[in-house]
Amino acid sequence: AAGAEAAAPELKREIRKVGVVGTGTMASGIVQAFAQAGYDVVFVGRGEDKIAGVVSFIDKGLAKLVEKGKIDEDTKSDVLDRLTGSTEREALGDVDIVVEAIAEDLAIKTELYKDLDRICKPGAILATTTSSMPITKLGEATSRPESVIGMHFFNPATIMKLVEVVTTADTGADVNETVLALCANVGKVAVSCGDRSGFIVNCLLFPYLNDAVTLLESGAASMDEIDAAIKEQAGFPMGPFQLLDVVGNDVSLAIQQELFAEFKEPGFAPAALLEQKVAEGALGRKTGKGFHDYQ
Ligand code: 3HC
Repeated sequence: AAGAEAAAPELKREIRKVGVVGTGTMASGIVQAFAQAGYDVVFVGRGEDKIAGVVSFIDKGLAKLVEKGKIDEDTKSDVLDRLTGSTEREALGDVDIVVEAIAEDLAIKTELYKDLDRICKPGAILATTTSSMPITKLGEATSRPESVIGMHFFNPATIMKLVEVVTTADTGADVNETVLALCANVGKVAVSCGDRSGFIVNCLLFPYLNDAVTLLESGAASMDEIDAAIKEQAGFPMGPFQLLDVVGNDVSLAIQQELFAEFKEPGFAPAALLEQKVAEGALGRKTGKGFHDYQ
């Protein structure tokens, strides 16, 4: 019946141009997701080679879609035309929202937020895709904590529909509503969450992934058997070791350490084998070797 459902969120602040900071896996996917949805995107990286890396990632992704007949060549070049890469943060002066996807390091992020606060126009929203840093602290580094919010995308960001929209006690209701509406415009499914370590997904997913590593260490089952069991039993698209390799063992270890530091539950302590993989540089698909081999 009319009025039975909550009204769809509205863009309370106008969003025409999007900024992204970062050139890693998440940033690249996020740039592509916005550009594919029709937004002009300015992205900032630390060097020309990193900028070129993002464009090449998106070019390859779009080429795959052309190959599959999902988009045509014209659409592909339109998407690429919406991209502007820069090595200067000042390029973000006129964007309506910045999505930050840089290293998970509070000192580095805090420095960036101070700078974004100086550079970005009044009213611009500063969103972070952090999976483990307290967003409240990032807001406090700025003069506009009401405009600071979490937009936690999932890997691969071009494909995964979920975005956790994380509000702090300071986040403005108009900012929250705008970001919820923006997610819908980009074809994502938003889930709201408070600023608690791990939010919803990582708080539940990473202890499971860590347990899978501990189970492997016990010798009771092989990696392939554990992957197969979970895929079959739960209808998961990937087994735990396949997923760890997609996320990256370094990222997974950092999340696990953060959850352990926050909740102090012995079961959250990172599995020794996960630490070993990181120490060996076996980070997952991105290095060609993680738990599984991709050479
Ligand atoms: N750009 C845009 N779209 C693309 C694309 C690209 N580069 N590549 C593929 N697609 C589209 C495809 O066309 C396809 O569209 P369709 O459904 O309309 O046909 C769709 O995306 C799926 O593509 P594929 O068929 O190639 O992919 P699969 O079906 O093999 O699934 C997967 C791949 C989505 C990665 C799946 O295995 C999966 O869901 N794995 C689990 C991933 C997951 O759980 N991620 C979350 C990790 S936790 C995290 O990220 C948190 C962080 O804090 C660490």
